[in-house]
Amino acid sequence: MNSSQDILASPLILPCGAVIPNRLCKAAMTEGLADEYNRATSGHNQLYKTWSEGGAGLLISGNIQVDRQYLERPGNIAIDGKQTEDQLKRLKDLAKAGTINGNHFWIQIGHAGRQTDPRVNKIGVAPSSIKSRNIAGQSIMPSFPPRELETNEIPGIVQKFADAAKVCKECGFTGVQIHSAHGYLLSSFLNPSANKREDEYGGNLDKRASFLIKTIKKVRETVGKEFPVSIKVNVSDFIKKGLAPEDATRLGQLLDQENLDLIEMSGGNYESLAILDGSSTSNSQKVKEAYFLEASRNLRENIKNTPLMLTGGLRSREIMEMVIKDENIDMIGIGRPLCGLPTGPVQLLKKDIDSLPRYEDKIDFPLLLKWFKLFPLGKVLARSSVLLWCYYNEILLSKGEESDENGTKIKALEALQYLDKFDRKKAASLKGLPNCKGLILNRD
Ligand SMILES: Cc1cc2nc3c(=O)[nH]c(=O)nc-3n(C[C@H](O)[C@H](O)[C@H](O)COP(=O)(O)O)c2cc1C
Repeated sequence: MNSSQDILASPLILPCGAVIPNRLCKAAMTEGLADEYNRATSGHNQLYKTWSEGGAGLLISGNIQVDRQYLERPGNIAIDGKQTEDQLKRLKDLAKAGTINGNHFWIQIGHAGRQTDPRVNKIGVAPSSIKSRNIAGQSIMPSFPPRELETNEIPGIVQKFADAAKVCKECGFTGVQIHSAHGYLLSSFLNPSANKREDEYGGNLDKRASFLIKTIKKVRETVGKEFPVSIKVNVSDFIKKGLAPEDATRLGQLLDQENLDLIEMSGGNYESLAILDGSSTSNSQKVKEAYFLEASRNLRENIKNTPLMLTGGLRSREIMEMVIKDENIDMIGIGRPLCGLPTGPVQLLKKDIDSLPRYEDKIDFPLLLKWFKLFPLGKVLARSSVLLWCYYNEILLSKGEESDENGTKIKALEALQYLDKFDRKKAASLKGLPNCKGLILNRD
């Protein structure tokens, strides 16, 4: 490997034998495009066809729920239990659309846990009945105390992950990623401030990780040795009393024994701004862009056998190459830039551009309202508006329309309003969820 282009363009052979054609991955981004039964739609197909053509070697879907009662957003796809012929056909069509360019397309399987969308279901489930101190909560998304899971409910959830993974494999997806980051169910078990259990799933890190480890083992047993199985995990929760550095080190050790094909490193949860911009991370200026790089050292310390992916803030080819060359990280995860510039990966690989757009710097409050960001709530809203701008672009792309490539079509506050309306409407349209009591009540 002598030219810098070769590093990002070089294939990666995974432990299971599968080959990812290059080192760029479209990281998981929730789409919100499912129908009233949380099934995949033609909008998903259009969106993933666009991303497939965009040149990343690996696409990871937005989080798809293994239990339909616990959605992260009203428009999540759910793969919960036995699928009908219609559901299978829709998933097969999606797998086909998202692999049109010969890339990998993995489904991220998750359970929203205590971060269940309260518009659909106010009572999430969690290791303990401790509500998330949702930083955006005061204004955007209130949170409610979740129900503590009974010990004997956990094997059933493990099985749901395995069943969903089996469906993904049968439908033509080329791998799965278990979502154990960002405060959702599996991640909340790892977090000592959320997990106060006294049974086998609470206590020291080994016990807090046992739900996750059982899930990985069951998924692997179900899909076999040759199918890529990955996880996404927090290197830190970036909150007081969250995952401690020594916990991260031990977690790395445990994960490295599990025959995983890729560990994606991220951070934060609904209680920490790090999830949006790495603002609580302690990166040196040099690696400010790759904002979980420094914090990922503890987790990486003992990972010897499993390829790693770093996600969060990566924009320039220079830093991406440094991360792979100097830090022994194998893949680069990219989120927000690919909402505005879906062809970003191919342009980077061809050296047409040196850096992906930084929409996080562009999508902002109007000049007259910038003072609002001096307050914690204003800061959160400003950060959230970039996220919602991304959602908005996913909707545009799903309709085959041009994305807001320059970040000028829709303003931050308009994106907030548009998405609030979009998700409320979706929540109100959901059918067949008689046991979910959410903030939006006018459902069938
Ligand atoms: C619109 C949007 C939706 C997201 N949805 C998910 C998701 O479903 N699952 C997940 O693990 N991360 C999700 N994330 C986090 C991204 O995968 C990624 O970790 C984060 O955006 C940081 O990468 P970036 O700086 O390249 O955007 C989402 C991020 C955005 C912007």
